[in-house]
Amino acid sequence: MGKLRSGAAEWLVPGHTGRPRLFQNLLLLLWTLFSCSLGGSAQGPGEWTPWGSWSRCSSSCGRGVSVRSRRCIRFPEEDPCWGDSHEYRLCQLPECPLGAVPFRDIQCALYNGRPVLGTQKTYQWVPFHGAPNQCELNCLAEGHTFYHSFGRVLDGTPCTPGAQGLCVAGRCLSAGCDGVLGSGALEDRCGRCGGANDSCLFVQRVFRDAGAYAGYWNVTLIPEGARHIHVAQRSRNHLALVTGDGRYVLNGNWAASPPGTYEAAGTHVVYIRAPGPEETLHAAGPTSQDLLLQVLLQEPNPGVQFEFWLPRERYGPFQARAQTLGWALRQPQPREVEPRPPDPPPAARAAVPTRAPTLVPDPCPPCPDTRGRAHRLLHYCGSDFVFQARVLSRHHQAQETQYEVRILLIYKNRSPLRTREYVWAPGYCPCPPLAPHREYLLAVRRLVSPDGTQDRLLLPHAGYARPWSPAEDSRARLASRRCPL
Ligand SMILES: *[C@@H]1O[C@H](CO)[C@@H](O)[C@H](O)[C@H]1NC(C)=O
Ligand SMILES: *[C@@H]1O[C@H](CO)[C@@H](O)[C@H](O)[C@H]1NC(C)=O
Repeated sequence: MGKLRSGAAEWLVPGHTGRPRLFQNLLLLLWTLFSCSLGGSAQGPGEWTPWGSWSRCSSSCGRGVSVRSRRCIRFPEEDPCWGDSHEYRLCQLPECPLGAVPFRDIQCALYNGRPVLGTQKTYQWVPFHGAPNQCELNCLAEGHTFYHSFGRVLDGTPCTPGAQGLCVAGRCLSAGCDGVLGSGALEDRCGRCGGANDSCLFVQRVFRDAGAYAGYWNVTLIPEGARHIHVAQRSRNHLALVTGDGRYVLNGNWAASPPGTYEAAGTHVVYIRAPGPEETLHAAGPTSQDLLLQVLLQEPNPGVQFEFWLPRERYGPFQARAQTLGWALRQPQPREVEPRPPDPPPAARAAVPTRAPTLVPDPCPPCPDTRGRAHRLLHYCGSDFVFQARVLSRHHQAQETQYEVRILLIYKNRSPLRTREYVWAPGYCPCPPLAPHREYLLAVRRLVSPDGTQDRLLLPHAGYARPWSPAEDSRARLASRRCPL
């Protein structure tokens, strides 16, 4: 268009407008209009021919490159085409037989026994890898202390033995995930070449359950298809991994496995244990089956961090299953990091509005006497849990009383307990009553509602709850031996 304007401007120049000049200008205008309407402005790049077919692989075994090319069609006044005229692709042939001579060695050996370096002397040549440009054919004269550079290596020569990059036109290129050397295309977290992480979801959580007893605790399900799995924990506890058929991949049966690489669910799981103490698990995935992540507790759990990427369609079922398996909290639970949060200082305690016992007469009638060996045995043997616990708080809700307790010592448990639990007691005036900030020996039952929506620890009316003392401790230990099996 620039040409059209200048032509038009020339035509409109006033003054010496002889006829021949006007005619010339008219022709010029017509020509520029014509070339404009064809879209063939003299500037701009030419056009590529379609790509030719891929060449044969440069190597006869193992990795090599194949190349394809295209030509730029352009008028002399046009700019060169944009982009590359050659494209190089990784080709992978069956592995070379053991003892096959490497490609670079062959190229050096071509100069064996031939006069080089402008003298009649001849040498035997072997690759030299200490030179700066790894895509030059640097060969060491065997038995001598010099090397010579014979120019570029042939396309498809590995940049260094065992490395991923291949030399192409004297440059070391690695294949992108599309197989094209130097394309820079990367696989996204979902495993899509050149993707934008949008076909999967990132799951990142911390399992903070402090764990009320030593043993295996479920941390999370890692569903089939998970990628980029990372798990870390810092304590003397151990991470454990279970396959779908219940087989332990590592740290099963209360025995610590050595650090190393383990095969599981079609991927390599790298298990690292640092003296810190710290443990990590990594796996690239994608996993070919569900894995169950557990932690083997020997001390309170300071937190197990885990993350992975999950295909979008797997996320919903994963959430649903985690909930039905009870990894959602059994009851609304305090989520602070355990193990041993300090008790609130007396000042903070005083600030919490509590009923002033001296001013308001206790409206609750006295409780029946529940002391005695027979009573203790009955409750010890008939309960699901017996533990020493400190009452952290007490709340009245409808016709029930809810105690939040911190479990200090477990004598008996039929299912896992957390360090902090809620214990429920029937009525506004439960018997026996528990006072906040005191420690007790409690025998409680697990109560699951028929529809499964509520799962609670229940201290039954006239159940067993005694202030904790060393004597109570030995009585509980004694009782444990007296229960019928
Ligand atoms: C995908 O996520 C990873 C990790 O968060 C990030 O490093 C990468 O840049 C993301 N890729 C894209 C294309 O957004
Ligand atoms: C842990 O998860 C497995 C597999 O879902 C389940 O069978 C088992 O009962 C769970 N264990 C505990 C202690 O919740």
